[in-house]
Amino acid sequence: MVSLSTALLLTLSTTVSAFKAGASGHAAKYSIVPGFFKQSDNNTNVKTFDYHDNLGLNDNLTWSEFKQQIEDLNANAELGVSYKVLYYGRHAEGWHNVANDFYGDAFECYYGQFDGDGNMTWGPDPNLTPKGIEQAKNNSVLIKSLIKDDFPLPQAFYSSPFTRCADTLNYTWYDIALATGYARPVIKEVLREVIGFGTPDLRRDRAYLEERYPDFDFEANFQFNDTLYTPDWSETYAGLKWRGRFFLDDIFTTEESTFISATAHGGIGIGIMSAAGHRPLVMSTASILPMVIKREERLDFTPVQIDLEGTPGPFSTSVTKCAASISYTTLPESLASTVYTLGPDTTGLPVVTVTTVVTASPTSA
Ligand SMILES: *[C@@H]1O[C@H](CO)[C@@H](O)[C@H](O)[C@H]1NC(C)=O
Ligand SMILES: *[C@@H]1O[C@H](CO)[C@@H](O)[C@H](O)[C@H]1NC(C)=O
Ligand SMILES: *[C@@H]1O[C@H](CO)[C@@H](O)[C@H](O)[C@H]1NC(C)=O
Ligand SMILES: *[C@@H]1O[C@H](CO)[C@@H](O)[C@H](O)[C@H]1NC(C)=O
Ligand SMILES: *[C@@H]1O[C@H](CO)[C@@H](O)[C@H](O)[C@H]1NC(C)=O
Ligand SMILES: *[C@@H]1O[C@H](CO)[C@@H](O)[C@H](O)[C@H]1NC(C)=O
Repeated sequence: MVSLSTALLLTLSTTVSAFKAGASGHAAKYSIVPGFFKQSDNNTNVKTFDYHDNLGLNDNLTWSEFKQQIEDLNANAELGVSYKVLYYGRHAEGWHNVANDFYGDAFECYYGQFDGDGNMTWGPDPNLTPKGIEQAKNNSVLIKSLIKDDFPLPQAFYSSPFTRCADTLNYTWYDIALATGYARPVIKEVLREVIGFGTPDLRRDRAYLEERYPDFDFEANFQFNDTLYTPDWSETYAGLKWRGRFFLDDIFTTEESTFISATAHGGIGIGIMSAAGHRPLVMSTASILPMVIKREERLDFTPVQIDLEGTPGPFSTSVTKCAASISYTTLPESLASTVYTLGPDTTGLPVVTVTTVVTASPTSA
């Protein structure tokens, strides 16, 4: 099934190679160290669990004991073994979350292709709602209360390039870490949400982000424009897990800090959890999930088999959820380009119709 133009496919391949080039750590295994956080325990019911309760630290531990135990783990680790604590935050409520609740499945399959409905604006790159800003500011109050208990502060901060994440990070950590000059968050492309299919996941250009976030830095080679977004294809779970793995390799091989904050999205969060061996949790907006992650390097250089459940890369298949309402024509990619028609189908249900048209004569097909 092909609906990407060759030029677009080349752009995607180039970017994916860039991700791969940095991933020097594939001969390593990741796992979650149990016993620290309630969220990693299968017996904790996530539906009733509330991260506001001490971020889920087990009741038999204080934050200073926790910090000491992590430091001890690293100090006593065998050669090739290391531990990091990732405080993973999902962004607070954005307008696309409100629109998604309002329209249900029709949002992902239809309305998400537009910027808004005249009532709400959800794309590209939606803002936080007033409630979302309050959620993030409330997280700041929560963290400040933990600091009194010797909570180990993140030593490094990473953000997705979407403003809902950078804003959430800013409102949560501004007076704790940003205004004081304690840290400068770094924006990383790999932390973006599921690539493709819907304007909420089309990002702004770098110049805009630089102006809006003077307290943030950008990773090396951060692209000016969003070269990954595709309106008609969506990244798969395998792609997300692969990116999660890339992120872990990146922080474990390039970041010296042990306590790290990342603020990103629900989807890539599942990718990171899966790559880290954490049970995959659907996080509520603004929630924070601490993960104690162990990395074991394979010193004999034998590559470890990684189960990516499919082809790595952010462009493997079309959107399965909406597949029933999308018609594709299968063509060799060199011959195909796409035309998108948005409109209600005959049953009155909103659908996205994707029509593939031939732009070259099929002499070699
Ligand atoms: C603390 O409680 C957790 C969860 O019940 C348990 O897994 C862990 O072993 C306990 N740790 C200690 C030191 O007792
Ligand atoms: C938690 O549940 C998952 C899925 O059922 C299972 O694969 C895993 O082994 C369980 N973990 C523990 C520590 O029991
Ligand atoms: C506008 O959006 C809100 C949700 O933010 C919804 O409750 C309301 O019904 C919408 N109004 C119209 C006219 O669609
Ligand atoms: C705000 O934080 C407090 C304490 O951390 C928590 O109990 C409360 O539920 C939070 N409120 C909202 C709206 O998130
Ligand atoms: C960052 O947070 C501070 C403190 O809440 C606020 O004054 C500032 O406007 C925020 N910056 C952005 C870009 O939202
Ligand atoms: C970014 O995209 C804009 C609009 O498509 C284009 O004019 C500009 O040349 C692009 N910039 C870079 C650096 O690719």
